[in-house]
Amino acid sequence: MTAGPGLEIADPASAIAREAGALLREYYRRGVAAEYKGDVDLVTEADRASEKLIVKRLHELFPNHGVYGEEGTRSNIDSEYRWYIDPLDGTTNFAHGFPTFCVSMGLERRAPSLAPELDGEIVAGIIYDPLRDDLFTAEKGKGAYLNGAPIHVSRVAELAEALLATGFPSRKRHDNPNVHFYQEFTLRSHGVRRAGAAALDLAYTACGRLDAFWEFNLNPWDTAAGALLVTEAGGSMTSFDGGPFLLNSDEVLATNGLVLEELLRLFEELFAGRDLDPIPTPAEFAARRAQRGIV
Ligand code: IPD
Ligand code: CA
Ligand code: CA
Repeated sequence: MTAGPGLEIADPASAIAREAGALLREYYRRGVAAEYKGDVDLVTEADRASEKLIVKRLHELFPNHGVYGEEGTRSNIDSEYRWYIDPLDGTTNFAHGFPTFCVSMGLERRAPSLAPELDGEIVAGIIYDPLRDDLFTAEKGKGAYLNGAPIHVSRVAELAEALLATGFPSRKRHDNPNVHFYQEFTLRSHGVRRAGAAALDLAYTACGRLDAFWEFNLNPWDTAAGALLVTEAGGSMTSFDGGPFLLNSDEVLATNGLVLEELLRLFEELFAGRDLDPIPTPAEFAARRAQRGIV
């Protein structure tokens, strides 16, 4: 591991992410039972234990900071600094033994006079993948790093040569049109991965393993750390119409900057109901297959 640039907050906070990651690794090897917290939304003992550990350590290290965690922590959140914690991003993978999950910790600085509905500035981000021992760190204005070495978004300039990623919500799936975008982007790129951990998708966009990532309905604990990684690595964070990325936004589009315009144009066309590439329905395909069988 390279020494890195000496990040004031992200370096000490990384020790917490590593400790939580080690805990997740233990649970993963042992196997844990999953419970439902919605119709298909899973949670495990590991999610809760990881959040408990992170919150305890953050309070020890930064007693004045607030914490907003996916598993329910809301502590000191009127503080100028607020951590958004996803103690286990990729719970469905974790519960099935699919080896893609991480810890995500993003720090927002909120000026004391800031209205509650407005975003502050994300100033530090840490994403840790305990199975690959990949530690992604960033601090505002100081760059983004993987295991201490600087990272940069990719140089792929065309969608046709891009590798993309997306995800699908675990709640209200029938209300979400993403499968149409998945289809179109798949037809027009090198492919779309759906690995199941949004924070890692953002970290991978930051380090050039992916060229872009989009998803509907993510939460601040999924995106805070990754958003800073992407921008510090030279990429773009926006909504699907090119507007600013917001922590509570229903739309997240992360790119290497070079494929942004092409993706925005495609989003516009698809939302307007144009530009869908025709592909056979399963019934049409079956009919063709049957015809081939007869001939
Ligand atoms: C989920 C993952 C997944 C994304 C879902 C998220 P969780 O987070 O990031 O990739 O598609 O929208 O809810 O529940 O595993 O922390
Ligand atoms: Ca998550
Ligand atoms: Ca989670």
